[in-house]
Formats: sequence, C-alpha cells, structure tokens
Amino acid sequence: MAYLQLQGISKFFHGVRALNQVSVEIERGEIHVLIGENGAGKSTLMKIVAGLYQQDEGTILLDGQEVRFGGPLDAIQHHISMIHQELMPIPYLTVAENIFLGREPLNKAGLLDKKKLIAQAEELFQMIGIDIDPRTEMRRLSVAQIQLVEIAKAVSFNSQVLIMDEPTSAISDKEIEKLYKLIFKLKADGVAIVFISHKLDEIFRVADKITVLRDGDFIGTKPASELDKDTLISMMIGRDLTNIYYKEPVPIGEPVLEVRNLTKAGLFEDISFTLHQNEILGIAGLMGAGRTELVETIFGMRSADSGQILIKGKEVSIKCPTDAQKNGLALIPEDRKKLGLDLKDSTGFNISLCDLNEFNRCGMIDKKTEAARVDDMIREMNVKVTSRKSPVVSLSGGNQQKVVLAKWLMTAPDILIMDEPTRGIDIGAKTEIYKLITKLAQQGKSVIMVSSELPEVIGMSDRVLVLCAGHLTGELTGEQINQQDIMRCATNQVASVH
Ligand SMILES: Nc1ncnc2c1ncn2[C@@H]1O[C@H](COP(=O)(O)OP(=O)(O)OP(=O)(O)O)[C@@H](O)[C@H]1O
Ligand SMILES: [Mg+2]
Repeated sequence: MAYLQLQGISKFFHGVRALNQVSVEIERGEIHVLIGENGAGKSTLMKIVAGLYQQDEGTILLDGQEVRFGGPLDAIQHHISMIHQELMPIPYLTVAENIFLGREPLNKAGLLDKKKLIAQAEELFQMIGIDIDPRTEMRRLSVAQIQLVEIAKAVSFNSQVLIMDEPTSAISDKEIEKLYKLIFKLKADGVAIVFISHKLDEIFRVADKITVLRDGDFIGTKPASELDKDTLISMMIGRDLTNIYYKEPVPIGEPVLEVRNLTKAGLFEDISFTLHQNEILGIAGLMGAGRTELVETIFGMRSADSGQILIKGKEVSIKCPTDAQKNGLALIPEDRKKLGLDLKDSTGFNISLCDLNEFNRCGMIDKKTEAARVDDMIREMNVKVTSRKSPVVSLSGGNQQKVVLAKWLMTAPDILIMDEPTRGIDIGAKTEIYKLITKLAQQGKSVIMVSSELPEVIGMSDRVLVLCAGHLTGELTGEQINQQDIMRCATNQVASVH
C-alpha cells in the first residue's frame, strides 16, 4: 500500500473545475514527478495535500489512514511539507530563526536561547550536508539557498512527504546539483518526494515515477523508465508536437543596434556586436558569464564604464530604462516575479499596462480596440484564464509569467531583449512564444534572446554570441550554431578559429 494515496480529488474555484477526480499514489523512497502544462492543476493538487486548500471531492489516505487537513500546520504535524513555487521567507529573520519559528528553544528564564538555536540549526545542516551560516539573514540568501533552508526546515519537522514546486526554475546549474544531492539523500532515507517541474531533461534525471495532469484531468502514472520525451509531451498536451521551434528564415536587414567596446569593470569587458533588422540574436553562456548584466547595461539599468551604443547608426545616451524605451528598446527580465504584476488587478489590465499610449485617441483610451488586442494576446499566448477580467492572482505560476511576456510584447518595440523568455513555461506555450518571436522578426523587428537552454538558442537564433566570464568568446552562424561549438566557447576552449 502506498504511503500517500490521493483518491478522486476534485477542486473548484468559483465554480470552475481546476481538478477533476485525480487519483495518484506516492510511495516512500520515491521521487514522483508531477508534470503538465501551465494551469494543469499541479500546484493546486499539492496545495491540497499540504493543507493550504481543501478538496471538494475525494479522499486522502496517509499510511492507510484517512486525513483531512485544516491548514498547513496540520499537514506539517502529519509530516507533510511543501516548498512553494513562490518562496516566502521572512526576510529580516536569520536562517535559524526561520527554521525554528514558533518552536525556538527557551532558556530557564523562558527567553529565547540564541546559542541553542544556532547550535540546533548547525547540527541540522551538518546532518544533511548544507553549508550555510544559520546566523545569516534570509534576505541575504540566493533563491537556491532559500530552497535548501526550506528543505532543512522540512527535515527538522521530520517530514515523510516533501513536495517541491518547481524548485530548480530559478537557480544555477551548480546549485541545482547541490539540490539534487540533498533530494537523493532524502529519498534514500525513505522520504516520499513529489517534484513538480517543466524541465524534461531534469525530469528524466530525477524521476522514479511520473504523473501527468492535463487541464485538471489525471492522464496517467508511469515509471520514468517506460517513458521517453516524445511520449511524455504528447501525454501532456494531448497531441504530438513535431516542430517545437517555429523558425522561418527571413532575410536579415540593416544594422539597428551597434554595441562598441562596452565595458563594466568586474562584469564584462570590451563587448562589441551588431544587431540587424529581422534578426534573432541568441546570447549563450554559462550562469555568471555576464549575459544578464550586459543586456541590463544596454537597457540602461546599469551604467557602463566605457563604450558606445548606436541605434540606426547614431550614437545614443541610454542612462535609464526610459531612455532605452524612447530609443525603441524593451527588456523582459529574467526574474519576472519582481516585475510589478499588479496581482489584484485583472489580467487584461496588466497586459495593457505599458501600452496605454497605443489606444490614445484624442486623449481617450479606445477601450474596444484595447480589449480586442488583449483578447488576441491571451489567445495567441494560450494564457489559461476564464476572461481578461479575471484577476492575475488567480492564475497559475506559468500563466502569470505569460502575462508579463504579453505585456511587453504588446508594446511592440523595435528591439526586444528577452532574458530567459521561456523559464517556468510549459512546452506548448513555449512553442507559442517561439512563434511570436519569429513573427516579430518577420515584421522587421529585432530580437536579442538570452537563454541557458541550448536547444532554444540553437533552434531560434540566426546568430549566436557566446560569453564566458564577461568576455565575448564566440560569434557563431549557420552550421556553427550547435551544442558542441557553443559549449566550447562558453567554457572558452576555442580550439580552432572558425
Ligand atoms: N486561488 C485561486 N483562485 C482561482 N483560480 C485558481 C486559484 N489557484 C489556481 N486556480 C486555477 O486553477 C487552475 C490550476 O492552477 P495551478 O496553479 O494548480 O496550475 P499548475 O499546474 O501549477 O500550473 P503552472 O505550471 O503554471 O504553475 C488554473 O486554471 C488556475 O487559474
Ligand atoms: Mg504551479
């Protein structure tokens, strides 16, 4: 008998069904991956298990006993912990205080025993092999470190079920390895692990079993060894996806952006390149190579020490993002959560937020045109939302990301810079984004795409720049755009000059 059994779980939000009679069994000592498109119901199902939501139908059995949790604390007391898609640590408390919040050791006088608190945290970290000082304030930690602390917290509650909602979507490859190591250790200790992810490579690396959800329906559970990527994708989206990258060759136009000898001490040095009309320029490199810093500098979010930026042949001074926007640039940043989505407001309002000028006729907003364009965008990007009037807060994590992308795509800039455009986004929606990028290039726009996903860089780019430790180590075109050459430049082992 499986340790955790979900039987016929259904959940409705305002009458709309988010989960439809879903049954899943999770064993001890297994890593069970939950996969499905944005809005499929993954987070909702696991929030029910973790006591944040209650199911409308169905039962949960834990070690053979029926359970029903009144709240998250209730679930934790039953040794079930969930690490959320949106991490919410208390920023000004220390790591140790965060872990033992509400159960801090007290001294004889009934006051907080700080020494003991630190010692407890140190002991815990040593046991599971985490190298973080428990005295550090949470706000000083990286996303990956916060994940590790959250796992440590789960261990401290002796969690037998650990749920991780897209834990690797925002952390570097090196940190991902640390996370895997810890997860494999917990698995060996007999913990049942539920792992939600959109990254297919990762899924096949960690999963013992895989469960697929689609639009709130249970599609199936299979051992990972019996599945391959193509089968998994068709289970997820209900059809075969033959061509993920919609790249259509477009004749490349005149130079629109020239970057000359751009330097920012400690971040990147002497970067020069040209971007043309109709061109999709990929920027590849390992985490920490300086890619994000470079595009942020071009966009005026950081100031360069030296170098020039020319737009259509004329030197421009870009001191802040507003200057950049006036010059026809837009940047969709890597960390889209920070990007001021107005969560309580409607999806439509958020999408049209940056673009009010478009509809400004005689000082009035043309509501009809605006609504039609927003609806087009929602359809094109396949945002799963009941109507443009639904608040963004009710959307799934990936669909919120799509709203941010849509908001910037609506501004139709001449030069669109996208930093990790498909992070956290399911494979079906990725294709839609690639289609949009291709469409923009066909319309005469130019795109810079920073990406850590090599298949995406290879599938979409006309030309690829590779950065390594702040230096431009490669500029690849045509046949040179392949995994081997990109990786060689990214690690700066350029054996032969192309
Ligand atoms: N609090 C809420 N209020 C209203 N609707 C909600 C709420 N939470 C989730 N939903 C809806 O339930 C459905 C499932 O959402 P869920 O967050 O479980 O998706 P997901 O599979 O985790 O997607 P993603 O990969 O994008 O994170 C979506 O249609 C979403 O809009
Ligand atoms: Mg989710």
